[in-house]
Amino acid sequence: AKENEFINCSYLDFTNEKVRRSFKDAVESIKTTFPQKVPVFIGANKRDNGASLKRICPSNNSIEVAKVVLATTNECEDAVKISYSAFLKWQKVPLERRCLMLENLAQKLQDDRLYLAALQTYEVAKPWADADADVAEAIDFCRYYAKQARIELSPKKQGNMFGEENWLKFNGRGPTVVIAPWNFPLAILCGMSVAALVSGNSIIMKPAEQSSLTAYALYERMVEVGFEQDVVQFLPGIGEDIGPCLVNHPLTSQIAFTGSKDVGHQIVKQAAIVQKNQVQMKRVVCEMGGKNATIIDDDADLDEAVLAIIKSAFGYAGQKCSACSLVFVAQKIYETFALRLVEACKSLDMGPAHHPQYTLGPVVDIDAQKRLLKEIENVKSYAQTLYIGSAKEGGCYVPPAIFTVDNTKNNLMKKEFFGPILAIMKVRDFKEGLQMVNESEFALTGAVFSRSPSNIELAKNNFSVGNLYINQKSTGALVARQPFGGFKMSGMGIKAGGPGYLLQFVDLKCITENT
Ligand code: SER
Repeated sequence: AKENEFINCSYLDFTNEKVRRSFKDAVESIKTTFPQKVPVFIGANKRDNGASLKRICPSNNSIEVAKVVLATTNECEDAVKISYSAFLKWQKVPLERRCLMLENLAQKLQDDRLYLAALQTYEVAKPWADADADVAEAIDFCRYYAKQARIELSPKKQGNMFGEENWLKFNGRGPTVVIAPWNFPLAILCGMSVAALVSGNSIIMKPAEQSSLTAYALYERMVEVGFEQDVVQFLPGIGEDIGPCLVNHPLTSQIAFTGSKDVGHQIVKQAAIVQKNQVQMKRVVCEMGGKNATIIDDDADLDEAVLAIIKSAFGYAGQKCSACSLVFVAQKIYETFALRLVEACKSLDMGPAHHPQYTLGPVVDIDAQKRLLKEIENVKSYAQTLYIGSAKEGGCYVPPAIFTVDNTKNNLMKKEFFGPILAIMKVRDFKEGLQMVNESEFALTGAVFSRSPSNIELAKNNFSVGNLYINQKSTGALVARQPFGGFKMSGMGIKAGGPGYLLQFVDLKCITENT
């Protein structure tokens, strides 16, 4: 490898029988540890005020995975105060030391990768390969941000004027609230957290309710590699209960959020209100949803296109923010494509995510299941059904569904469902497809399948999304190779896993000395 080139953590090779066996062992042995208890940690103190939540395995509702202690506003108040004093010390820890701590954490996560992935197969029903990819991404975030911090956050000499010396310095800002989603339970929480830490900020981690146990496994490893417990605090809890208190607190300096559009809007709005005794203007790094489209040109390689749509629309039951939920198909090949897509969808085998033979698991919880089943019923009333699979019993299963409509003015074409529901629509040609994708309020990911250089060029210039894939599925961005994130209503901020991301977490100071 060239000097400075970033090498991603490789995925486990599940074609190797030994690897399959060791993953299976990890999955089987973790089951004996359930239900695990997930505490609240304020500094070095465990808190338990009695309120807790049972986390049930989405694949099999008779398995209780965790008992999660819920933080309240009292804990938030204490956590932010502790975080503020911790920040004053942490910001003085040399940059190189902070980078090394991230690298130690990466190593620890790598050592425990089977455990961390096996946990996800139960807690959030991630299929084996997806769970492994999530752990690999968390490891990548640690190593990549350590590498970037050395480059981007080291003091930089400016200008070249005789008799004057200028230095640009990059300082942490203060307590950072990290509000993370459940769909990449280790990677996204880890990425936002270590970015804030390496930039000199103390953090308060508020994991998603559905993935608090995986989040706790991360917290434990952070403490194990030497992060002090007042620098990193752990507050599982109900978002609506504790989120506002953390976001509004006058000592909170910034919020790193990944989640839904509605919550993102709330956070941006609240963070903009200056509180009494507030010490600085708050920043929000905000990654929200998508309604991601793929355009299939009339000369596309349909073998590749069908496989890519199946993977990106139904992989992890459509619960990646990068998932494809709309397909615009050139009319010339529409019938052939639709037929092949439906046939391919029929081959998806639904069942528990911790069993590797199944290609489609459940959705994350009963609320999501109910909501999605209702959406399917609603869509049926105005769209033509091309396929609805059958759902399994005993877990939060939602059948894969494919619909078609002839206009874009409906929820099927506009609303992010976050589940295994796919819309396909016939368009005159590639250009019309391109016009339609840009009607979306979102701009996260998109893909095109085409062999026409001029249409590919058109997409490169006009497909309005943060991550565009040409003849490749729209999911699975890799740290450093595909910096990830969108614009419009999909988010604001610099892309995760790319250059400049860390600069969102620092204040810049320019020092000029008359020499
Ligand atoms: N980064 C993920 C992907 O690209 C989505 O969060 O699939």
